[in-house]
Amino acid sequence: MTQHDDQPAPMTFTAAPALSGGITVPGDKSISHRSLMLSALAVGASRVEGLLEGEDVLATAAAMRAMGAEVRRDAEGVWHIHGVGVGGLLQPRTALDMGNSGTSTRLLMGLLASHDLTATFVGDASLSKRPMARVTEPLSQMGASFSASPGDRLPLTMKGACPAVPLDYRLPVASAQVKSAILLAGLNTPGITRIVEPIATRDHSERMLKGFGADLAVEVEGDGTRIITLAGEAELRPQQIVVPGDPSSAAFPVVAALLVPGSKVTIANVGLNATRAGLIDLLREMGGAIEVVNAREVGGEPVGDLVVTASALTGVTPDPVRAPSMIDEYPVAFVAAALAEGRSVFRGLEELRVKESDRIATMAQGLRAIGVQVEELEDGIIIEGSGGAPLAGGGPIATRLDHRIAMSFAVAGLVSKNGVTIDDMRPVATSFPTFMAMLQSLGAQA
Ligand code: S3P
Repeated sequence: MTQHDDQPAPMTFTAAPALSGGITVPGDKSISHRSLMLSALAVGASRVEGLLEGEDVLATAAAMRAMGAEVRRDAEGVWHIHGVGVGGLLQPRTALDMGNSGTSTRLLMGLLASHDLTATFVGDASLSKRPMARVTEPLSQMGASFSASPGDRLPLTMKGACPAVPLDYRLPVASAQVKSAILLAGLNTPGITRIVEPIATRDHSERMLKGFGADLAVEVEGDGTRIITLAGEAELRPQQIVVPGDPSSAAFPVVAALLVPGSKVTIANVGLNATRAGLIDLLREMGGAIEVVNAREVGGEPVGDLVVTASALTGVTPDPVRAPSMIDEYPVAFVAAALAEGRSVFRGLEELRVKESDRIATMAQGLRAIGVQVEELEDGIIIEGSGGAPLAGGGPIATRLDHRIAMSFAVAGLVSKNGVTIDDMRPVATSFPTFMAMLQSLGAQA
């Protein structure tokens, strides 16, 4: 699904006066995908409020509709889904177009692995480069079969197994997508599906499956290893879901407010689940003034308002074990490091090489182009900070169809002498369609 215009949309972001004001960010992308998928499997009518209406989530909505669920938008962010019951999805008549969305692709492969149907997945140039073996391998053990393009990539056709065989699986890579794919396959699989997760990743699937009434248990061992068991064949009950603001989207105004001198910004209703909040912790360690007020719980997830005040930052060397809790935030963390005092060393980030782009290479190249001294490592990056001095600027930055690269360099432009030009802002619509309006409402210029 490419809803983009045909032509790239380059844009230049220039030094901003102090940012100020109060904003919200769109709904959490991970929770939005799961809301649609689980509601489509519940028997009856669910309602979702605060759904992210970005291209990635719309790809999931279209897929659920193509497989028989009734998915209807009511008002902004308010959606109604009439589910077909676990095991009740129908064979899609055409290929499922996943656009740029790795989460839609991998989670839906799991969901369909225990359905008696055949489906073909296609995606854009970025998604078609991303490895799928990490899900096809465990799902094959459950009985599904796959015919993929070379390198286990899209386009890919799969045939689900019904009944599937329950799996006992130790995750070889810290990935919430892989964990969730197996859990979703386990829903329509007789017996107990068991996953051993040595390093915790985002736990929205576990929380939401429990909320929908699945028989799921999580046990945490002394060393932090999580053991998740799910009893199939599950029956899911329809839910009323309120989706919190996406911490991965809040990351951009948070870093912008810290870096642009004199700024003070409040971002309301941000999800603060510990498995997602690593960037806030890191920025605080760097000296960032980020206060959480009005901490509360919304829809089973911790939520708060962030009050962010411009701060002088110092370089850091974060422990790689925290990587999953801020996996999508590294690009903008690198921008923060570029303005910090001293050197930052980021390691243990091999997973960044298989995101919407190779985020280590794309960031290293872009940061160099705007005057930052960086050294690219196989598993990370070393960044020499400017100590708060504005970056030179330049571009055009090659964003390689990666929304988070585009937004990270937009933030860098706000603290540059000559502005930063982004080659194409269209991919931002995948996760943060209101990004430009949000920046402008804080006083930034583009
Ligand atoms: C996601 C998991 C993460 C993250 C992605 C969303 C999810 O991917 O990068 O944006 O919703 O489960 P990995 O599982 O590949 O780390």
